[in-house]
Amino acid sequence: MDASRTNPSSLSLLDRVAIVTGSSRGIGKAIAVHLATLGAKLVINYSSNRDQAQLVAQEINSSFPHNHSPRAITVQANVSDPAHVKSLFDEAETVFGSPVHVLVNSAGVVDSKYPSIANTSLEDFDLTFSVNTRGAFLCSKEAANRLKRGGGGRIILVSSSMVGGLKPGFGAYAASKAAVETMVKILAKELKGTGITANCVAPGPIATEMFFSGRSEELIRKNIEECPLGRLGETKDIAPVVGFLATDASEWINGQVIRANGGYV
Ligand SMILES: NC(=O)c1ccc[n+]([C@@H]2O[C@H](COP(=O)([O-])OP(=O)(O)OC[C@H]3O[C@@H](n4cnc5c(N)ncnc54)[C@H](OP(=O)(O)O)[C@@H]3O)[C@@H](O)[C@H]2O)c1
Repeated sequence: MDASRTNPSSLSLLDRVAIVTGSSRGIGKAIAVHLATLGAKLVINYSSNRDQAQLVAQEINSSFPHNHSPRAITVQANVSDPAHVKSLFDEAETVFGSPVHVLVNSAGVVDSKYPSIANTSLEDFDLTFSVNTRGAFLCSKEAANRLKRGGGGRIILVSSSMVGGLKPGFGAYAASKAAVETMVKILAKELKGTGITANCVAPGPIATEMFFSGRSEELIRKNIEECPLGRLGETKDIAPVVGFLATDASEWINGQVIRANGGYV
């Protein structure tokens, strides 16, 4: 066979096990549904929205009507709690009878008051770092110890193009994501010999509850004007990027931050 050709199976996730944190809604949900269409079995994680998480799992399971065992399960876990993060992997291994191949950390929070640093409360700073940075650290740590070795292991952390955008009102948030982007570059090197890759996907503005919370119509219009493509990003703009990184075809992308933002930064 021509060695320069892509093997179509390298774009499949058939029967691989994937955990997507924060997949009850928003970007995480779109990622989970997309990974399922590539063939993966999914852990749908949520923090408090049990009903929405179950709807996501149902959506996935209903597209495999002939399967007797579930393709998607829901697991409640706060990503900033190490015992909860451990339970995500425990449940995945027990239910699917396989090591986890792919960890996507999409759980995240933003302070929707968009305060200047001078006006950021210590509580809000701590919450932002607790979910976005500590959460990414704990998920990465567990994944680095437990993901499948020898091929197919993928760690994908959702950071933010705000690390480059540097807008006033996003001080704690951008800093919390910048730490994750730095960590992933070192993590990729530390995973030498495991076949596991580690990357960040950094979306720009994406139309989700997080994006709309606390933003005026005027600010939303400004965000659209700033984008060379003249529109807001949608969750479907991010899911295929993560999907590709989850497959074998992406192996040569390692320790990178992929910004997906329509060109705004
Ligand atoms: N939307 C944007 O414009 C944008 C841009 C750049 C980067 N991002 C990043 O993309 C990721 C997803 O954002 P989104 O817009 O999809 O947000 P979203 O619509 O607000 O959804 C957030 C998700 O995270 C979960 N979550 C929150 N805190 C958690 C915790 N402590 N433990 C576990 N899960 C938790 C939520 O679960 P519940 O449903 O149970 O609350 C929900 O599933 C975040 O990391 C965000 O920073 C978003």
